[in-house]
Amino acid sequence: MKAIILAAGKGTRLYPVTLTMPKPLLPVANKALIKYAIETLTNMGATEIGLVVHSLESPIRQALGDGLATVGVPLTYIEQTNPRGLAHAVKVAQPFLGDEPFLMYLGDNIFQDSMKTLTTRFRETGAGAAIALTEVPDPTRFGIAELEGDRIKRLVEKPKDPPSNLAIAGVYVFQPAIFDAIDHIKPSWRNELEITDAIQYLLDQGHSVIPYIVEGWWIDAGNADSIILANQLVLEQLPYSPGPQTDSRIQGDSAVSHRVILGENTQIINSVIRGPAIIGDNVTIRDSYIGPYTAIGDDVVIEGSEIEHSIVMCHCSIRNIPGRIDASLIAENAHVSRTKAKPVTNRLILAENSVVQL
Ligand code: TTP
Repeated sequence: MKAIILAAGKGTRLYPVTLTMPKPLLPVANKALIKYAIETLTNMGATEIGLVVHSLESPIRQALGDGLATVGVPLTYIEQTNPRGLAHAVKVAQPFLGDEPFLMYLGDNIFQDSMKTLTTRFRETGAGAAIALTEVPDPTRFGIAELEGDRIKRLVEKPKDPPSNLAIAGVYVFQPAIFDAIDHIKPSWRNELEITDAIQYLLDQGHSVIPYIVEGWWIDAGNADSIILANQLVLEQLPYSPGPQTDSRIQGDSAVSHRVILGENTQIINSVIRGPAIIGDNVTIRDSYIGPYTAIGDDVVIEGSEIEHSIVMCHCSIRNIPGRIDASLIAENAHVSRTKAKPVTNRLILAENSVVQL
């Protein structure tokens, strides 16, 4: 079965990080978000994946190429220069998808569930579509499904009076009838072609749409807090590994706990590392504390500082910061330091939409 991953959004809620790095390439436990999507889709039976990207020059294409060497599944790139909604993205992908049922996955979503039975149930029931749903505490913020027996009866966007607490999560299976449905819908108030409107059209035409209730957690990693939470949830799943007793990478007066992954050529000097945590290659940690739920990319230097529950991407340095850094997202090549120069001041060189809490 073919699949598409929608990865052509602007990612405005993650500016300035996503001005230079598309959201699906953001690392969660040192692995790009989109690789989790590809793994889930191949588990669900996808044999060929189309990536809907903003431009064929996208950094996603530069990172994953034709897919065979990088993720073990053939990838095709589909250009959606002007992202005008999820249903618009599906329409743009129609020539790739052809006249067969297909899977669709939102490129910034990440699930604990492997969702294998979603495609099986879709095939068995011969439904027009199947949608992954997940229970949410605040249904007024989501697209919500109203069920009748084992079918979906109606979809409502951000309902004031929610008919259920089952939100539409970012995975769908469709029959090709969805293309005709998209041709019949009009842009919404936000001028987007909405996939919920196209599915509602399928329902109105008498197609059956079946629910799949997701097991475990689901994160729509659209903003900094949710990507940091995804990092925590993935690291929480690291299997037990004992703290290293003798390891040439660990030097001086250091203590490294269980459930810590250390990369190659990494040095831990006079520092404490408490897992679950992952530290990339060519990293130097000196006179520092790295706490639980922290992911540190390759070629990073951390000296005289404390950090936990955070993501530090490649080529960063953090030096002599007083107080503990917590719940932070630090993008590639960022440098954070305390200087000894007088007067003692805070000097900030920030991109648009940066957030600093001192
Ligand atoms: P959103 O999170 O709704 O949009 P976005 O990624 O542009 O983020 P923001 O709201 O912060 O600006 O999109 C969900 C996923 O769908 C995301 O991976 C991008 C993708 N997408 C497309 O590929 N094409 C589209 O037309 C839209 C609207 C989204």
